[in-house]
Amino acid sequence: MKDKIAALEQSIIDFKIQSAGDAENFRIQFLGSKGEIKGLYADLKSVPNEDKKSVGQLINELRAKAENKLEEAKANFGNESSGSKSKITFDFSRPGENVNSGSHHPLSLVRKEIIEIFNRIGFNVSEGPEIEDDWHNFSALNFPPEHPARDMQDTFFITKGENEMALRTHTSSVQVRVMESQKPPIRTISPGRVYRNEAISARAHCFFHQVEGLYIDKNVSFADLKQTLLFFAREMFGEKAQIRLRPSYFPFTEPSAEVDVSCTLCNGDGCNVCKYSGWLEILGCGMVDPNVLEASGIDTNEYSGFAFGMGVERIAQLKYRVTDLRLYSENDLRFLKQFTPGY
Ligand code: DAH
Repeated sequence: MKDKIAALEQSIIDFKIQSAGDAENFRIQFLGSKGEIKGLYADLKSVPNEDKKSVGQLINELRAKAENKLEEAKANFGNESSGSKSKITFDFSRPGENVNSGSHHPLSLVRKEIIEIFNRIGFNVSEGPEIEDDWHNFSALNFPPEHPARDMQDTFFITKGENEMALRTHTSSVQVRVMESQKPPIRTISPGRVYRNEAISARAHCFFHQVEGLYIDKNVSFADLKQTLLFFAREMFGEKAQIRLRPSYFPFTEPSAEVDVSCTLCNGDGCNVCKYSGWLEILGCGMVDPNVLEASGIDTNEYSGFAFGMGVERIAQLKYRVTDLRLYSENDLRFLKQFTPGY
């Protein structure tokens, strides 16, 4: 090992540096990250322990010699070639540049949280197109032709006629696509944007976001639905959250219900957000109507299921106390910055 060091020392002494290029080659050969001196340090591992210290010292000295020679050479040739690296000087006292970190949109935060909650109880995520045909948005969901229930959701039509296409009015359309393409058991949620032809105001918008849920298996009951929604409400709004179900109507579920959660602001005592009722509506749900299962080819003798649909803006409103829906799509930094971590 000592011989090797001596030999390397000789080649360092013999190396002639006559230009900036030579200096760089010298650096690479001896001092670079794959250079010969690095190699010596690697060899040190195989030196017997009692010699490690003295051999290590020799290598350190050799490195110092090589570095000195390089410094000297740089002083002589460093400024020779135009634009050479050694010319670049940094002013380390300059103030740093401000890096503006972005933030997640509140709706993305809520969407992510909803997905995580349902993931924990075995729901996967599925998606479908925003431009939908009549079958997936209406007919397969048990909306008969010309049925007034279609007017519940003011639709933006894209094309008229036989192959009429529209912007989906709800994410329930994804239910149909999932049932058509997968066999039960199905446990899925479908987040996405939906569109309705409504005048924009603090309480309504022409587009918003929903998360649809669908669970199809043998012996799925209304009790399973209730327990799933209670679990969701407690994960989302805290363990004290209560839910209540009110009978309702949707063409695709029977029986159907609307679900309220105990007011997150006053814990049910009554305040102006819950209009002194102590309850806030958060979603619609029900047992999937057998007509809907059959339309997608699922055997109703074997399977049953539940479905639910919630508005992401609504959940965000309750979580962040945002009362004007328009704020979500105006990109006002004063609003968005409030969701920057550590702001
Ligand atoms: N699609 C309904 C809406 O947009 C929400 C909904 C209600 C979805 C009940 C469901 C359900 O899956 O079972 O208003």
